[in-house]
Amino acid sequence: MIEVSRHDIVIVGAGAAGLRAAIEAAEADPNASIGLVSKVYPMRSHTVSAEGGAAAVARDDDNLEMHGFDTVKGSDFLGDQNVIEYFVEEAPKELALLENWGCPWSRNEDGTVATRAFGGMTVKRTWYAADKVGFHMLHSLFQHSMRFDNIVRYDEYFVTKLLIEDGRACGVVSLDIRTGEMQAILGRAVVIASGGAGKVFPFTTNGMIKTGDGMSLAYRAGVALKDMEFVQYHPTGLPGTGILITEATRGEGGYLRNSEGTRFLIEYDYGVGTKAELGPRDMISRAIIQEFEAGRGVPDRHGEHANLDLTHLGEEKIMSRLPFVRELAKTYVGVDPVYEPIPIRPVVHYMMGGIDTDVEAATNIPGLYAAGEVACASLNGANRLGSNSLTECLVFGASAGRNALQFSKDSGDANEGQLTAQAEEEAARIDAYRGSQNGEERISAVRRDLNKAMEEGCGVYRKQDTMQKCVEQVDTIKQRAQQLKLEDSSKVFNTEVISALELIAMVDVAEALVNSAVLRKESRGAHTCRDYPQRDDQNFLHHSIAYYQPGARPRIDKKEVALGHWEPEERKY
Ligand code: FUM
Repeated sequence: MIEVSRHDIVIVGAGAAGLRAAIEAAEADPNASIGLVSKVYPMRSHTVSAEGGAAAVARDDDNLEMHGFDTVKGSDFLGDQNVIEYFVEEAPKELALLENWGCPWSRNEDGTVATRAFGGMTVKRTWYAADKVGFHMLHSLFQHSMRFDNIVRYDEYFVTKLLIEDGRACGVVSLDIRTGEMQAILGRAVVIASGGAGKVFPFTTNGMIKTGDGMSLAYRAGVALKDMEFVQYHPTGLPGTGILITEATRGEGGYLRNSEGTRFLIEYDYGVGTKAELGPRDMISRAIIQEFEAGRGVPDRHGEHANLDLTHLGEEKIMSRLPFVRELAKTYVGVDPVYEPIPIRPVVHYMMGGIDTDVEAATNIPGLYAAGEVACASLNGANRLGSNSLTECLVFGASAGRNALQFSKDSGDANEGQLTAQAEEEAARIDAYRGSQNGEERISAVRRDLNKAMEEGCGVYRKQDTMQKCVEQVDTIKQRAQQLKLEDSSKVFNTEVISALELIAMVDVAEALVNSAVLRKESRGAHTCRDYPQRDDQNFLHHSIAYYQPGARPRIDKKEVALGHWEPEERKY
């Protein structure tokens, strides 16, 4: 018999959004039991690698209206305005709360919270703790979470299935990576907060764990994946590794230069206009690629790069504001930014799309909530502004925790016999899968081909024919992912079976992404289609929603954008 544990709510993922959800629920009701399940130890969640900061209104020259409009404009008018209004209002409260829990926000000389400039924001709005913001935020959240005895952690448990009974979410089935045993973790509501899926692409800032598992769980359970075609390329990744060089480098005054040493973002008009290095990420990434295409990239053994020049900032400023950048550049490319420019190129960083949620972090399955990068509440639309996402994890993590707790209080227990039967069936599936030699396909080969197809089909610039080719390649890859040869039948730390399950999740994400992309015959935000260079509000001012269809390509529907008092206009900076 499978082991069964019971909680009021179950949270999948223990990064910023998951921990914030857990704390919110645990604090609201000390008698509620919260199961917190994560495939890695919480401090290894990808939040830890965030660098530059978290956005919220903090200064006298700023206000909620301005943060709201910057976000709407950044989203290329695809963000839902009710969601954006809620977000900007909650943002300052969340960042102040985090300070109470120990987050050491950098200060101005007068003791007020320091803020720095970030791309697409009209004023300095990004709170920071040098350039190790994710580490400090995650540490504060994790330590604070340990105050609550009612948060029960399942570290290094990989969730393989959502339990749905009578049309509502009732828990998860998970694999204890250490022992290989399966366990049913029941709850009257479930929050998915397991992060994004950058690993679908080969060159990414994302850690190995970001394989879209949570998106796949919801997708297969019947929740749409929304706006998946919008993939954010961050302008400044280190060639070779994809390690993030934070946008804070430009916020602190760094320049981007081409092979001729020119600050091309001001010298040439690529639509970035007066903001130059502080333009939004989609526009700057396109400008860099255009420089490469014009023969002004700097050749290197990985292809070509542009240069990020911090030399004029001086050692003192670099050491006080950007010490981690210096360390990364020295360690990974042998460059000391105090004296030399850092080679950079656009790199996949963030999925604007994700599990279709509303302003309450709720999905269309009663009792199922999602928050953080895994979700798409439609805060970011077609392009996210840098530093909105850490705050998003807090705002919507809190909302998910609060609403899931309320749902669990209002709901009775599901039929445990039926849930256990579902869990037993899932456990038998995983047991049979481990070490199964059903096919000849190697995980690494299928994964490599998926990465290649996605990079060629869904890069910074896209074309109809290459996207269509990618759709067909993903069809084939999906078949191949069903015929993997697994050779390790042992139970303890069987990383092969985890890799296979992650690969299947990545294929789900990829099919939703490319099938949504090929239908969007316009250019908006991060989706830039050479065949349709203009934004087309007449035909495409809508969300794309992708529904899983077993044995077929996803069904792509449209969903209305929640407009408000910010009217769509041409997006210029
Ligand atoms: O560049 C950065 O520090 C990234 C921030 C973000 O993605 O929000």
